[in-house]
Amino acid sequence: MDRGEGLTIRVPGDKSITQRALILGALADGESRIGAVPRGGDPLATARAVAALGVEVRGLDGAGTEPVTIRGPGLRRWTQPAGALDLCNSGTGTRLLSGALAAQPLAVVLRGDASLSQRPMERIAAPLRRMGASVDYLGRPGVLPMRIGGGVLTSIRHDGEVASAQVKSAVLLAGIGAGVPVEVREPHRSRDHSERMLEAMGAEVAEGWRGDAWSVRLADPPARLEPLDMDIPGDFSSAIFFIAWAALATGQRPVTIRSVGLNPTRTGLLPVLARMGVDVEVLPRGAPGGEPVGDLRVVGKGAGLQAVEVGGDEVPGLIDEVPIVAVLAARADGVTRIAGAAELRVKESDRLAALAVNLRRMGVAVEEFPDGLEIRGTGKPLSGRVECFHDHRIAMAFGVLGASPGCDLAIDDPGVADVSFPGFWELLARVERHSVGAAPHPGQIPAAPPGADRCIVVAVDGSAGSGKSTTAAAVARRLGFRHLDSGALYRAVTLALLQSERGCEDVEEVTPAELDALRIGLDWHDGTMHVRIRGTLVPDEALREPRVTSLVSRVSAVPLVRDHLLELQRSAAAGPGLVAEGRDMGTVIFPSAEVKVHLDAEIRERARRRLLQRGRRQPAAEEVDAEAARLELRDQRDSTRAIAPLTQAEGAATVDTTELDPPGQTEVIVQLVLPFLTSVEYN
Ligand code: S3P
Repeated sequence: MDRGEGLTIRVPGDKSITQRALILGALADGESRIGAVPRGGDPLATARAVAALGVEVRGLDGAGTEPVTIRGPGLRRWTQPAGALDLCNSGTGTRLLSGALAAQPLAVVLRGDASLSQRPMERIAAPLRRMGASVDYLGRPGVLPMRIGGGVLTSIRHDGEVASAQVKSAVLLAGIGAGVPVEVREPHRSRDHSERMLEAMGAEVAEGWRGDAWSVRLADPPARLEPLDMDIPGDFSSAIFFIAWAALATGQRPVTIRSVGLNPTRTGLLPVLARMGVDVEVLPRGAPGGEPVGDLRVVGKGAGLQAVEVGGDEVPGLIDEVPIVAVLAARADGVTRIAGAAELRVKESDRLAALAVNLRRMGVAVEEFPDGLEIRGTGKPLSGRVECFHDHRIAMAFGVLGASPGCDLAIDDPGVADVSFPGFWELLARVERHSVGAAPHPGQIPAAPPGADRCIVVAVDGSAGSGKSTTAAAVARRLGFRHLDSGALYRAVTLALLQSERGCEDVEEVTPAELDALRIGLDWHDGTMHVRIRGTLVPDEALREPRVTSLVSRVSAVPLVRDHLLELQRSAAAGPGLVAEGRDMGTVIFPSAEVKVHLDAEIRERARRRLLQRGRRQPAAEEVDAEAARLELRDQRDSTRAIAPLTQAEGAATVDTTELDPPGQTEVIVQLVLPFLTSVEYN
């Protein structure tokens, strides 16, 4: 596979997770911090509703990068709002809030926009009524506006007819709020964000198959919920538009989408894409806050898109992705069949109808069934006007098709994308602009295209024996960043000089021309740095030769040598991120690094580590003392030397590694970097 890095983008935070965090944060006991909250229409509507219920929500009006804080008053402490709560277009906000409201001794009216006011509410009203809440429709039966009267509830088991995370969550929230056990059974497993978040807040949720049904049980609701402290991962359902774009484009650079939520109940599209011939690489990056996160990298399709069959159990895991499957199917070879997707008829629009109408209008052969579609792919030029039916995913799916070769589509209501993805059209235009041009050479990561994304720089320095080399390399591996080891560069200069006729004599007198002649260069393979001398790759062992080791600190103290390597080091900041390790990384080379870390440890621990590094198995106390004394001298020299003294960069976080093993050190730094990875930078 082509390892070229190509384009790197981010998408807004996950709308499902955000709305749960806002509602559950408002039920918690104490202040929750939620980073990378997307400012789309749906999350904003839910946040405003929560605020109208007397809960203090701060940080939503800023530029969008600062975390949102919610001062949770406890489980049943919401207050009567002045008027109706307007949830605008948000089905998730409406249904989840209804569940939570059922347990509050209030009477609250919920309403929404024209699209939300068509969507079925009886699916949540029925179980909530059975628990003891009153739900009254104020207009047409079964739809908004409706009034929820809450209070004391009783325990239930709810057997849902359809797999719906919103219904499941509404019942769980009612159970949590009222302190009564609840169980929800569903025919297929739906997304489990509520379960994960409740667990993170101290509730125990039991899940598993019971016969043919997926059961989720809250047997012993806790008396209080712990506040949340989390960053919202990128929305998989938004990321897929750019995966689809890359799959439809020809000859484009690979696209990497950073820090996307990879909860397995959401990623059902990936195996379908694989069957269609789209190669998506998943690079996991851990599970902060209980939700798996990682990067998605799509290189493009192999021989061309293949038609697929999608149905049954697979549908809940890609319920929001059916529009994009349909759009890809229009360009695939053969007939794609989507079945078991009747739920699509009650989303923000009747999505099966919206897809069929629009595809047919542009000349694609489509058959519509009550629960699915058959779409015959075509290579013909596609053109026409797309009707969005007030549905963000219809707008964006056709937006992606319109941006693909041979298509010329006009979207009637592009603004509707703001519900989940403000900035979508600008990002699509930018991705298109930057996609032109040949793929990079394998093994070389080209500089990030201007403005497409910034490379996050993590500058790591620290005292000798603090653990910085191992840790910097491990952090880079964990984050998928490059690792710049400045020590290796100074060693390369030393070795190159030794190999040259000039040698290392009077290195303080070295001239720029002599340094130029060494032709020190860098190559990158999967984030690992390799040094070239006069065009030839240098093996690591050569850089570690004793003659190099004994001279390198003298060479690295020559100002001209440091100047000579400055630009080369800065050029390493390309691709998604760089962990730059060395004494002047945070001060001279990358003074505006996003994260600066200074590693330190108690001197005897540093001494012990250095002895271990040199192969001593169990150094005796006296040996450690002697090494500590040597280190103390070295520290003094390091911090007072005239050229590149070891000083802590301004704004650097000191990490005391005395009690931390290498994985622990890595974790601390990764946690410092995460807020930058999940910050919303898509516009
Ligand atoms: C959602 C659940 C799904 C999904 C919607 C978000 C959620 O709806 O389509 O976009 O956040 O729980 P259903 O629960 O109605 O299937």
